[in-house]
Amino acid sequence: MEIITSIEAMRAFSCSRRERHRLALVPTLGNIHLAHLALVKRAARLADKVVVSIFLNPLQFDKREDFSNYPRTTEQDCAQLASHAVDAVFIPEHDDMYPPDEDQSIRIDVGPWGEVLCGVHRPLHFQGVALVVMKLLQIVQPHTAVFGEKDYQQLCLIRRLVKRFNVPVELVSHPTVREADGLAVSSRNAYLNAEQRKEAGFLYQTLLSAKQDLQAGMAVAEIEQKALRKLSNRGWKPDYFSLRKADTLAEADVSCRSFVIVAAAYLGKARLIDNLSASLDSSS
Ligand code: PAF
Repeated sequence: MEIITSIEAMRAFSCSRRERHRLALVPTLGNIHLAHLALVKRAARLADKVVVSIFLNPLQFDKREDFSNYPRTTEQDCAQLASHAVDAVFIPEHDDMYPPDEDQSIRIDVGPWGEVLCGVHRPLHFQGVALVVMKLLQIVQPHTAVFGEKDYQQLCLIRRLVKRFNVPVELVSHPTVREADGLAVSSRNAYLNAEQRKEAGFLYQTLLSAKQDLQAGMAVAEIEQKALRKLSNRGWKPDYFSLRKADTLAEADVSCRSFVIVAAAYLGKARLIDNLSASLDSSS
C-alpha cells in the first residue's frame, strides 16, 4: 500500500494506473472504523485499484463541533487500511489542498442543500463538503467513488454536484453499518460516555417506530412530533426528525410514497445522525 502525501504524487499514481485499471476512491476524514472498511470492501468489488483519502477538512466543521477535537488517528488508520484491499492512501497536507494563495472567494454555492436539515444547524458544512469532494474527485480522478448512506443529505448533494459539473465518476452508495443495537457506526460515537452509549441505539429504534407509524397510516406531522417528544423525554436534544421525499429530500406531501426518515440529535456532546428509508408501496 502506497502512502501518498502530495497532490502531484496522487495525480501521477492515478495517471499511470487509470488507463489499464479501474480506480475507486473512498473519501474519509480519517479515524477509520468498521463503516469505512465496509466502503473499502465495496470499492474493492467495484474496481481493481482502491484509493482511500484521509483529509480532515476544516471547511466542513463549524463552531458546535470543534475541528480540533475530532479524533486524529492517521497511523492506526494506515495500519488498518494496509490489511485491507487498499492500494494507496492519499493524505494531503492542508496547504496543498487549500494553498494560501488560492482565491478563497471562489466557493461552491450548494443552494437549498445548505439550508435544510443539517444545513440549518451547520450553515457552512455542505459548502465545505462540496468543495473538498470536488477537489478530491479532480485530483484522484477515480472511475468510481463510494460514499456511506448514513450521511444521506451529503450523498444527495454529491450526486447533484457530480451531475451539475459533469464529473465523469460513477457514485456508489453503501448501506449504513450498524452496531448490534442499531446505532450507526460513526467517529462521533467516541464522544459518548458509557451511559450515553447504552442509550444511543434509541435513535435507530425511533426511526424504526416512525416507519411503522407511517406504514400504519399515521400523518407525517404527527409521526415527527411523536418522535421528537420521545427523544426529548429521554434526554436527547434533537436538531430535527423529519420525513422527506427520498429522492429530493423535499418535505413529504400527501402524494409521497417513497420516504427517507432523517434525524439528527445530540446525546451529550455527540451529535448523531441517522436515516431510514420507508415506502408506502411495499413493506420495505
Ligand atoms: O463523509 C465524510 O467523511 C466527509 O464528509 C467527506 C465525504 C470525506 C468529505 O470530507
